[in-house]
Amino acid sequence: MLKIVGVLIASITAVLAVSSTVGSHADYLATCNSTSICPNHEVFCSEGVCRCPPNKAPVMIRWDLHCRDIVQIKRISTIEDHPWVISNASCLSSKKAVAKSSCRHSPCYSGILVDPLRSADEGGKFLDNCTITEATSVGQFKSGTWTNNSVMHHLAGNKTDLGLAIFNEPTLSPHVRAAIHFESILVGNYRNQVALGIGFPKSFDQERVHELGDR
Ligand SMILES: *[C@@H]1O[C@H](CO)[C@@H](O)[C@H](O)[C@H]1NC(C)=O
Ligand SMILES: *[C@@H]1O[C@H](CO)[C@@H](O)[C@H](O)[C@H]1NC(C)=O
Ligand SMILES: *[C@@H]1O[C@H](CO)[C@@H](O)[C@H](O)[C@H]1NC(C)=O
Ligand SMILES: *[C@@H]1O[C@H](CO)[C@@H](O)[C@H](O)[C@H]1NC(C)=O
Ligand SMILES: *[C@@H]1O[C@H](CO)[C@@H](O)[C@H](O)[C@H]1NC(C)=O
Repeated sequence: MLKIVGVLIASITAVLAVSSTVGSHADYLATCNSTSICPNHEVFCSEGVCRCPPNKAPVMIRWDLHCRDIVQIKRISTIEDHPWVISNASCLSSKKAVAKSSCRHSPCYSGILVDPLRSADEGGKFLDNCTITEATSVGQFKSGTWTNNSVMHHLAGNKTDLGLAIFNEPTLSPHVRAAIHFESILVGNYRNQVALGIGFPKSFDQERVHELGDR
């Protein structure tokens, strides 16, 4: 049986698992008013609940909640791969004026990797004006370069901020292993040897990787 690792490849500091992080922290989104103050000094009372200031999102660092700048993801590179990333061809080719390439709103993209990204964005709002580009493959490394217009090519050339793709862990090439740091298994079924996690480029700041891992 194959071991499957779901990979969200972030090439910039991404505030991803925002909603799931915060759900488990009692002080965040606690009700407050003018007389009851928020217990955490980084959050403040707004519209009756304790929350981070505008343009900041909550992150957990060693079990403590901090408000950090939201780093926007502007570009996502992905590849159609049921059921992880489902692109609806008739939606993409339709003449209807819908935001086809919008990471946040496009009705043309869905799937197991797309849906949690969108629900995290509901809390963290890190997909402002983000557009999705479909690559032609995940990419192979040959003669010193990645396949043109592949997810790995987009990542390596800084043509995207995040690559959304699924990899077969046992078949990862040494070049992908060299480029990606696997961290934080989000969903695992060890009996079936299925593991979904997040992968970062090796260049990604290690401290941030561990932060995200802690979530
Ligand atoms: C403010 O919140 C505190 C604690 O939740 C509550 O006891 C108090 O009645 C509230 N005061 C007002 C004016 O709503
Ligand atoms: C694909 O898009 C078309 C046109 O927008 C829509 O009618 C159809 O329901 C979509 N299919 C799925 C499976 O979402
Ligand atoms: C998103 O795009 C709109 C329209 O082009 C622009 O007004 C807005 O400032 C942009 N927002 C961000 C966060 O870049
Ligand atoms: C990839 O693109 C580059 C630059 O556009 C081009 O020179 C090269 O021939 C392409 N490689 C392949 C295999 O198509
Ligand atoms: C990657 O591209 C973005 C957007 O084009 C740019 O702001 C950033 O400086 C680039 N980073 C590197 C390391 O080249």
